[in-house]
Amino acid sequence: MRASVLLICTVFALVAASGKRGLGIGSPFNASTDFKPFQATKAVSWYYNWSLKPLQPAPKCIEFVPMQYNGNGIENLEKTLLALKANRVLGFNEPDQPASVGGTSMDAQTACNLWMKYFVPLKTKYGIKLGLPAVSAGGLSWLNNFLIACPNHKADFLPIHWYGAPFWGVYDFLWSFHGNHPNIPVWVTEWAINDVTDYPTMANGLSSTATYFDGLDWIERYAWFGSYRANQNWANAELSATGALTAVGSTYVNTPFNNTITLSKTVCPSSSPIVVNGPYSHLFFVLRSQQAGSHRQSWLPFRKNLPRGCQQ
Ligand SMILES: *[C@@H]1O[C@H](CO)[C@@H](O)[C@H](O)[C@H]1NC(C)=O
Ligand SMILES: *[C@@H]1O[C@H](CO)[C@@H](O)[C@H](O)[C@H]1NC(C)=O
Ligand SMILES: *[C@@H]1O[C@H](CO)[C@@H](O)[C@H](O)[C@H]1NC(C)=O
Repeated sequence: MRASVLLICTVFALVAASGKRGLGIGSPFNASTDFKPFQATKAVSWYYNWSLKPLQPAPKCIEFVPMQYNGNGIENLEKTLLALKANRVLGFNEPDQPASVGGTSMDAQTACNLWMKYFVPLKTKYGIKLGLPAVSAGGLSWLNNFLIACPNHKADFLPIHWYGAPFWGVYDFLWSFHGNHPNIPVWVTEWAINDVTDYPTMANGLSSTATYFDGLDWIERYAWFGSYRANQNWANAELSATGALTAVGSTYVNTPFNNTITLSKTVCPSSSPIVVNGPYSHLFFVLRSQQAGSHRQSWLPFRKNLPRGCQQ
């Protein structure tokens, strides 16, 4: 009985997509049509769009991760997250950068004060997992100031952004970042390559980096920038002006993904049928690990938030 319960939970887990790969959804993006190409391979398991408002219609089996973008309206954060039944929340976006480049320009002490007042209780009262403010690659000293101001932040993961050239610069950057923050999982919530103007080369860099992130146990999730429609003026976009996958988008969907860590909650309507089509070797690998107790830490929270499998 116990074994079969475990087995069922594990099957549900594997119905979910890659635990790591997500969408950073910019504008324009039509939620009625533009999620579909990303659902084909189950490579994508979560999305965010720098806000607390999920896109409508909601995609099946892709978790929405809300973000409190800056301090505006933060008094309503708790109420909003409870209404969304959110399990995770992202902190402020690029507080180290000015608004002209998409930042929120906050000083570290102000951010810390808001953090302690509005974010920490979400964790202590409801167990919502907290992602620290995401700085740009140039914001490492901002982050250090924040961590000094806020040693009791109780965060569960540390988002970071990287844009650069050449693309393999991201490896050194992230290893150094991890070296400075070894005890907290990293989410790469924006990354793209600056010195590339054509889709195939960009796609090649994307594929190599995503595969690399999949293999690192301290990288918990990642989202390329970005998932939106664009002409080829900056070749990072995953969708063309008409909503077709670009070579970059197609690479994001088709690059093999790591599904040994699929313990994230999927967001599915309860009426959807359960589809069992995962790679079973992984299933039994996970099952055996669970029984051996080696994945206990990740298994226990998962059992509390049992995800429902569903047809995408
Ligand atoms: C989004 O796609 C739907 C379905 O094709 C269409 O009816 C709607 O007009 C589109 N919305 C926008 C803003 O283009
Ligand atoms: C995210 O989506 C919501 C719901 O459609 C929308 O109101 C909001 O403007 C979007 N945020 C961004 C940054 O595009
Ligand atoms: C999958 O991810 C896990 C945990 O992050 C890691 O230990 C493992 O090496 C990865 N597997 C592959 C094939 O990349």
